[in-house]
Amino acid sequence: MATRIAPSLLAADFGNLERDCKMVNDSQADWFHIDIMDGVFVPNISFGMPVLKAIGVHAKKPLDVHLMIVDPDRYIATFAALNARVLTVHYEACIHLHRTIQSIKQHKMLAGVALNPHTPVALLAPLLKDLDLVCLMSVNPGFGGQSFIEETYQKVTELKEMIVAQGASTQIEIDGGVTDQNAAQLVACGADVLVAGSHVFKATNPKAAIAKLKAIG
Ligand code: DX5
Ligand code: ZN
Repeated sequence: MATRIAPSLLAADFGNLERDCKMVNDSQADWFHIDIMDGVFVPNISFGMPVLKAIGVHAKKPLDVHLMIVDPDRYIATFAALNARVLTVHYEACIHLHRTIQSIKQHKMLAGVALNPHTPVALLAPLLKDLDLVCLMSVNPGFGGQSFIEETYQKVTELKEMIVAQGASTQIEIDGGVTDQNAAQLVACGADVLVAGSHVFKATNPKAAIAKLKAIG
């Protein structure tokens, strides 16, 4: 299957959110990537439920919601009601990750787990078959516009091997510093979904930037 492209609205112009949502609707992008940050799990606060609700009014493609918050269990029902298609929580933020994943599925969303750059993929072996998606952070979460961490390629390769060995159907998503310079190698290593914020929204022609990423995959 062709690689999915998920533009991260964190890099959108919040004064023109409707315009930027329409650009994504009209592009070859597959998902809207939505970054929710609480200022505790990560040293930044992005936006919360009212803004997500506004995005949901305009977005015509699935919402891929990435929670960078502590104790995400408190809000699973809320994000389901806000029409999240994929709900991704951080491994490092969940004490009872298995329970959290089951709860996301009970709320009829696809379940994702994100790993910080320092967290080994092997930790996910016991619950890989339960996961619809693993998001490998290729920057330290909290901010857009950071440089891609090169060690990510090795993690993608390892994770892909685990998925194949277990006969799982988990998708691998890469988040942080993705550009047309690293996309091909990420896909070659096994990436299924590429998140791109700055590379898309700071481009002179965002739709063309999305099309180029899509063509690489
Ligand atoms: C970072 C976020 C990313 C971010 C990516 O914590 O999870 O989704 O928006 O932005 P770029 O593509 O600019 O690194
Ligand atoms: Zn993200």
